[in-house]
Amino acid sequence: MSALPSLTIEKDLQPSLQEEVYVHDVYNAIAPHFSQTRYKPWPIVESFLKSRPKYSIGIDVGCGNGKYLNVSEDLFIIGTDRSSGLIHCGQEISKNKYNLSIADGLSLPHPNNTFDFAISIAVIHHFANENRRIEAIQHILSKLRQNGQCLIYCWALEQESSRRGYKEGDEQDILIPWVLQKKQKKKARNSKNKTSKTNNHEKNSPDTILDDIEPQPEEEVETKYRYYHLYKKGELAQNALATKSCKIIEEGYEKDNWWVILEKI
Ligand SMILES: C[S@@+](CC[C@H](N)C(=O)[O-])C[C@H]1O[C@@H](n2cnc3c(N)ncnc32)[C@H](O)[C@@H]1O
Repeated sequence: MSALPSLTIEKDLQPSLQEEVYVHDVYNAIAPHFSQTRYKPWPIVESFLKSRPKYSIGIDVGCGNGKYLNVSEDLFIIGTDRSSGLIHCGQEISKNKYNLSIADGLSLPHPNNTFDFAISIAVIHHFANENRRIEAIQHILSKLRQNGQCLIYCWALEQESSRRGYKEGDEQDILIPWVLQKKQKKKARNSKNKTSKTNNHEKNSPDTILDDIEPQPEEEVETKYRYYHLYKKGELAQNALATKSCKIIEEGYEKDNWWVILEKI
């Protein structure tokens, strides 16, 4: 199966407008479909959460449908996301049990210097210039108490083993397609279609980013594009250190993503 091509961005679009059009509008438009593909915790995120001391309090910034909010019963986690559509999905999934609210990652409503930990998984790469990405990390850190820790994941430029094949030297600021199934024609509602649905929802390992699946012939589809900054090796830690508010505890690469654990100083 070949992937739809990614597109290069309109460079003269203001970063906040770029995010409005190519991040926020898109997540709202794809929310129910996107949410169906996001339910399984990524292993390093799960082990970060499970290694927090009992009764720690934390925030999940850009929590999507809140899939990390119930990983550990021993923690209290507040999730925020800019997408009202995804917050709504999280409320439905949890029957209103998750602590969720709509907020922008650059203006979180929480008190400063409060939380024991934070996570922000696959979010910072959606900010459309480096200053805003650093500011977003800084803002998360501002909510942590001293020595509080934060796990951040961003999509990597180095994805040579994935079918997309992005690699060092490629354009880092790109638009990535998400194929949204608009409507199924009657004819497609048979067992063959069930197979295609399973393919579309190859749920959900970290390396399986389910956003550029080729349309099946009998489906009516619409393609939406999301802005991503693909992080190259070392860049995420560099952005974090540029905040001058943290030290790096651990960093690594997992299935097309760079991750760091930061400690607030
Ligand atoms: C790839 S999804 C990841 C969702 C979730 N963290 C997960 O791992 O399933 C990216 C999320 O970032 C959110 N997001 C993007 N820009 C944001 C911003 N400025 N403030 C808050 N959330 C944002 C999107 O709405 C979306 O839910």
